[in-house]
Amino acid sequence: MSTMTLAGKRILMVIGGGIAAYKCLDLIRRLRERGASVTPVMTRAAEQFVTPLSVSALAGEEVHRDLFDLTKEAEMGHIQLSRVADLVLVVPATADLMAKMAGGHANDLATTLLMATDTPVMIAPAMNVRMWDHPATQRNLSVLRGDGVTVVGPNSGDMACGEFGPGRMSEPLEIVAAVETALGDGPLRGKRVLVTSGPTHEPIDPVRYIANRSSGAQGTAIAEALRDLGAEVVFVTGPADVARPSGVQVIEVQSARDMRAAVMTALPVDAGIFAAAVADWRVARESGSKIKKEAGKLPVLEFEENPDILREVSRLEVGRPALVVGFAAETDDVVAHATAKRARKGCDWIVANDVSPATGIMGGTENAVVLISEDGAETWPRAAKAEVARKLADRIAAALTSAT
Ligand code: CTP
Repeated sequence: MSTMTLAGKRILMVIGGGIAAYKCLDLIRRLRERGASVTPVMTRAAEQFVTPLSVSALAGEEVHRDLFDLTKEAEMGHIQLSRVADLVLVVPATADLMAKMAGGHANDLATTLLMATDTPVMIAPAMNVRMWDHPATQRNLSVLRGDGVTVVGPNSGDMACGEFGPGRMSEPLEIVAAVETALGDGPLRGKRVLVTSGPTHEPIDPVRYIANRSSGAQGTAIAEALRDLGAEVVFVTGPADVARPSGVQVIEVQSARDMRAAVMTALPVDAGIFAAAVADWRVARESGSKIKKEAGKLPVLEFEENPDILREVSRLEVGRPALVVGFAAETDDVVAHATAKRARKGCDWIVANDVSPATGIMGGTENAVVLISEDGAETWPRAAKAEVARKLADRIAAALTSAT
């Protein structure tokens, strides 16, 4: 059963015109059962997808629809409407609404409220995958991020339009988790943190790849712990075994090069935590067709080096995160190797662990780490990965809040 985690919080919900608007009905219930009040605003297009009657019945409040409603202007002007809320939540944020927000339009009630508000704004984008990938939407997204808007999702998956990919609106409970984070009072509230996780897959041909044994468990636990302290988390993951964390922005990638591109797009962030087991090398010439077996002939693979994402981000002259944390998976001389790695990469901390098979750490549920910083090496007791993650998140919070 849910608890009253949002007791007394006031949410102004701007419902945009997309098929995902139907999820708002459930979202309103979920927010209210946690104690929040929801004041709904619908765009004209939204009314094509859900009726104002359903929305107001679930919200227990009348739906605001018109900019030029004189009686309402007398009772509560749209400026005031936008300011009494603790959070303005735009669900679904369509490509059109995002463009209007990024461009500062104010030609209906929803966009006028968004322009007039001085409260935090969160959007849950939903649109066709090509619209999401379109440079205009991506440009608008970074403008909105720069304006301080928090973005939840979108998820990847089957879409109502029959296509597959990113663009599907986050599920109601994921949005609730993001709202709880945004309105909570965790020490990382207002901070944006990037976490890389999982292995990478380096293709040999269309059916074969080179990978490693990383399960993504530690990176996932870190993303969850940072989220629980109130951070906005961007989670860039390779094809990991464990379930994706909820309430964070998940970006799925395959290869080291994809991961690098996703990381660079996610910047700027306050902290970058590089827990992924990125392949150091990729196959130099990926075959476009499946390599066939030929009697007496063995394929010879040549390798080339992958971009070192941690090193590149650590050494950025402009836009370097205030805190960069790398990981070191070693099998011997853990402290010596990890200390050298910290210097080589240029990161602030290295979380080093011994991944010799006898430790059972890689792919297991526990971790034993040594934290290497400019103050030296600190050995942490072996503990569940979730516990290690919480401890690390607390340290990150302490470092980020003392730096500002
Ligand atoms: N890393 C990265 N990009 C790479 C390789 C590694 O971002 N292409 C990051 C990992 O996420 C991790 C740290 O760097 O935080 C691990 O470095 P590692 O691969 O162990 O470093 P190497 O310099 O390759 O060291 P080694 O000689 O032990 O392989």
